[in-house]
Amino acid sequence: MHGLIYLIGFMGCGKTTLGRALAARTGVAFVDLDEAVEQAAGMSVAEIFDSLGEDHFRRLEAETLRSLTPPQGEAMIVACGGGTPCRAGAMEHMLAHGRVVWLKASPERTLQRLLDARDQRPLLRGMSAETLAAYIAEAEAARHRHYSRANIIFDSSNLDTAEGIDQSVSQFLSII
Ligand code: S3P
Repeated sequence: MHGLIYLIGFMGCGKTTLGRALAARTGVAFVDLDEAVEQAAGMSVAEIFDSLGEDHFRRLEAETLRSLTPPQGEAMIVACGGGTPCRAGAMEHMLAHGRVVWLKASPERTLQRLLDARDQRPLLRGMSAETLAAYIAEAEAARHRHYSRANIIFDSSNLDTAEGIDQSVSQFLSII
């Protein structure tokens, strides 16, 4: 693996899970953009949304994205937030500095993963299963034009077991 690799895609598509597993297998540096924003702000993503607002979060997210550069000559994997590619200039930045991989999971897998982890995501808090399913369909459609500019599309539906993660890592490494 070489250069910067940005993992993008909707919430719950497995960006962090796959990124961490890729880093564990290859020894390549890994940054989770939400975590990098949390470190920079000294509070969680949910706290930033609550106390400073979504716009503030989006500005911090864009600034942090631009600050990420791998050590000279080394590779680095960045797991973006679901909304990262939608900010003006963000896809241009990523396409100019590395390769962008769009992780796509089936709507069923995405719904299941998000039902289990709704509360950590300020945009989803308090949604019923029905509302969440409708939100996923609508928000994914709205984001499609940004995500679809990625260099590569990768099926991330198989990340729910250790074996599935292992197979997905091997498959990813064979195409990257
Ligand atoms: C968001 C996705 C989240 C996080 C924030 C907003 C979005 O990241 O950045 O809650 O707008 O889709 P994940 O995709 O890692 O959940």
